[in-house]
Amino acid sequence: MATDKTIVLITTPSRSLQLDVTSAESIAAAKSHLDSAFGGLLDVLVQNAGVMPYQPLRDNSVLTSFRETFETNVFGAAMLTDALVPLVQKSAKARIIYVSSGLGSITLRLDPSNEWRAIQGTIYRSSKAALDMLAACHQVEFAGWGCKVCAFNPGVSRTSAGRRAGSGG
Ligand SMILES: NC(=O)c1ccc[n+]([C@@H]2O[C@H](COP(=O)([O-])OP(=O)(O)OC[C@H]3O[C@@H](n4cnc5c(N)ncnc54)[C@H](OP(=O)(O)O)[C@@H]3O)[C@@H](O)[C@H]2O)c1
Repeated sequence: MATDKTIVLITTPSRSLQLDVTSAESIAAAKSHLDSAFGGLLDVLVQNAGVMPYQPLRDNSVLTSFRETFETNVFGAAMLTDALVPLVQKSAKARIIYVSSGLGSITLRLDPSNEWRAIQGTIYRSSKAALDMLAACHQVEFAGWGCKVCAFNPGVSRTSAGRRAGSGG
């Protein structure tokens, strides 16, 4: 569908599109919506959805919490990209942006002077480090068809995730 508009999907709550990135059915429904509403074209995919478990853990086991966090922050992002790439491939201004976090930086985690050193956040940090690698791999893989891919650190904001982390999300 030729258009001068830019079609953008941001994984954040929306009245027009319900999406759970951990559900293959929900992703398929979102793809169908994009097919019918925008002729199967997507210019920009912003993978913003993320969860941040409170640490130290209260009720969940380490394994459960790792699984739940990776389901959204990593596996969900990978599934959504995989499903929507055919739509993004139709765009002349193709972009995929993964919302990551400075807490996922291995370099910063090992820096004794880092301002967020006292925040444990091992599970969240590990998920964002994995997301960064997903972004790096997709940047290399998708360059051949003109898609620009990046991981983006929005910095600290007082959102529910930011508050759960005690800031530094
Ligand atoms: N806040 C910070 O300081 C900070 C810093 C660096 C990076 N980030 C990153 O920024 C992104 C946005 O976080 P935020 O701070 O705005 O926190 P937030 O208010 O908790 O937003 C997270 C969003 O992800 C959505 N989400 C969670 N699980 C989902 C799923 N399975 N499928 C679809 N959507 C899902 C949530 O939807 P519901 O509300 O419907 O659950 C919510 O809209 C996250 O990736 C976070 O890691 C935040």
